[in-house]
Amino acid sequence: MEMCGLDSDGKEFKSSDEMWRQEFGEQGDDDQHKNKNEWYRKGVGYWEGVEASVDGVLGGYGHVNEPDIKASEDFLKSIISERLGTNRKLAALDCGSGIGRVTKNLLLRYFNEVDLEEPVSHFLEAARESLSPENGTVSDDRKAVNFYCVPLQEFTPEAGRYDVIWVQWCIGQLADDDFVSFFKRAKVGLKPNGVFVLKENIAKSGFVLDKEDKSVTRSDLYFKELFKRCGLHIYKSKDQKGFPAELFPVKIYALTTDMPKRVHGTRSKTRPNQPGLIK
Ligand SMILES: C[S@@+](CC[C@H](N)C(=O)[O-])C[C@H]1O[C@@H](n2cnc3c(N)ncnc32)[C@H](O)[C@@H]1O
Repeated sequence: MEMCGLDSDGKEFKSSDEMWRQEFGEQGDDDQHKNKNEWYRKGVGYWEGVEASVDGVLGGYGHVNEPDIKASEDFLKSIISERLGTNRKLAALDCGSGIGRVTKNLLLRYFNEVDLEEPVSHFLEAARESLSPENGTVSDDRKAVNFYCVPLQEFTPEAGRYDVIWVQWCIGQLADDDFVSFFKRAKVGLKPNGVFVLKENIAKSGFVLDKEDKSVTRSDLYFKELFKRCGLHIYKSKDQKGFPAELFPVKIYALTTDMPKRVHGTRSKTRPNQPGLIK
């Protein structure tokens, strides 16, 4: 993609392609596959060394849990009332779930069944434990059902199972081509009217490569280009408020496979030179 970026050592790149070439090698190189596997091995390896706690999965910023969940809840409630309704059983998938922080604090309050996908086994085991009936966080009517210990780039959700596929603070681990093929594959997992919710750190421009945990923080423009490649439309989006100033800005997107009738918060662009009719 034609946008400049940086890595965590301050090295500048003229384009994201230049950065991906540095990480994986030239297209068609014999080593490309091996280098990519190494990228993913190092990414998961980083998280394998992190304590299974809220503070651990939030990089030492455990106190942002509360404003994060509050803003996500307001966003989710609007999606449920506008698209999903409450008079039937709802199911969600929590991708890159870590220890099940989002499932426990948010998803299980709105969905009857939640599945978790996470490649780091000690995180997933911590999630299984904290979401078990013995820990009183589930009832017959609201429970964590399946725990998939697999990375997103290798995961395909069960067809037609989910109203919401929640992807928070993990998509930066995926290379662009795996990002696109994951969302293309995962569309089969959505019920009619279902949505993807993507909540992520946002680079002010271009991208920032973190060489330690092998992740890429992308700009809003970068995400929009990838959504286009995935064949996804932004149903709505919102900026996170109330986080410490030293952190990346955070944005939450609701993405649909169908074209929204009217993009929320914008005026219709179909007849730009005529005044709209007041009905
Ligand atoms: C910052 S934590 C966020 C965890 C959780 N989503 C939350 O908000 O509490 C990043 C998570 O991404 C997971 N992760 C790393 N590589 C991944 C991959 N290739 N596919 C899916 N998840 C991955 C990590 O193991 C970790 O649990």
